[in-house]
Amino acid sequence: MTVKEAIQKRRAYRILGPVEIKDEILEELGEAARLAPSCYNNQPWRFIFVRERQRLHELYAALSPGNAWAKKSSLIIAVFGMKKNDCVIGDREYYLFDIGLATAQLILKATEFDMVAHPIAGFSPEKVKEILGIPADAMVITLLIIGKRAKESTTDISQKQIDAEEQRPPRHPASRVYSVDAYSKELDE
Ligand SMILES: Cc1cc2nc3c(=O)[nH]c(=O)nc-3n(C[C@H](O)[C@H](O)[C@H](O)COP(=O)(O)O)c2cc1C
Repeated sequence: MTVKEAIQKRRAYRILGPVEIKDEILEELGEAARLAPSCYNNQPWRFIFVRERQRLHELYAALSPGNAWAKKSSLIIAVFGMKKNDCVIGDREYYLFDIGLATAQLILKATEFDMVAHPIAGFSPEKVKEILGIPADAMVITLLIIGKRAKESTTDISQKQIDAEEQRPPRHPASRVYSVDAYSKELDE
């Protein structure tokens, strides 16, 4: 699969079915993240791969109600890090950016494995830290909800969420995403 194909195939699907999570898959996902660029090669990203059923069930209790669909996941990846582990240049704090880069690589790798890797912000970071033993001063940035795309869900899912399965949510036009050679006021329209 080319990068272009992986980018196009990736979607934040919510209707999930089970997928076997072998050690080799975890190794490949970890490697995709490990090779990401970072400021001063600081590599501030930290991940916990959770595939054990009992631990997954504990994590389900940390999900926001709107993310009940995620209870069908076969793997949850807690993505976290600390500001002190990466560059701070003036008011530019790079740890969230660099962790995002590594996470994007991991998501594309999961897509290549024909798995859904859906990042969510709707969870309790305090509960996640407690369940997984993550240090209190770390920032849990996202949970990646991993499964196989399925057709029918038995978990709570809203009509809006079902509609989004078929149709990718709209994107800004290219003119609002990039300009060439200089700033364009269309970038903020
Ligand atoms: C940081 C972040 C937080 C998100 N949080 C949630 C969430 O809590 N629940 C959810 O269902 N989707 C969540 N999403 C998924 C987005 O809704 C989804 O990526 C967006 O609608 C675009 O759809 P697509 O990824 O299928 O192209 C999140 C995505 C990101 C990157």
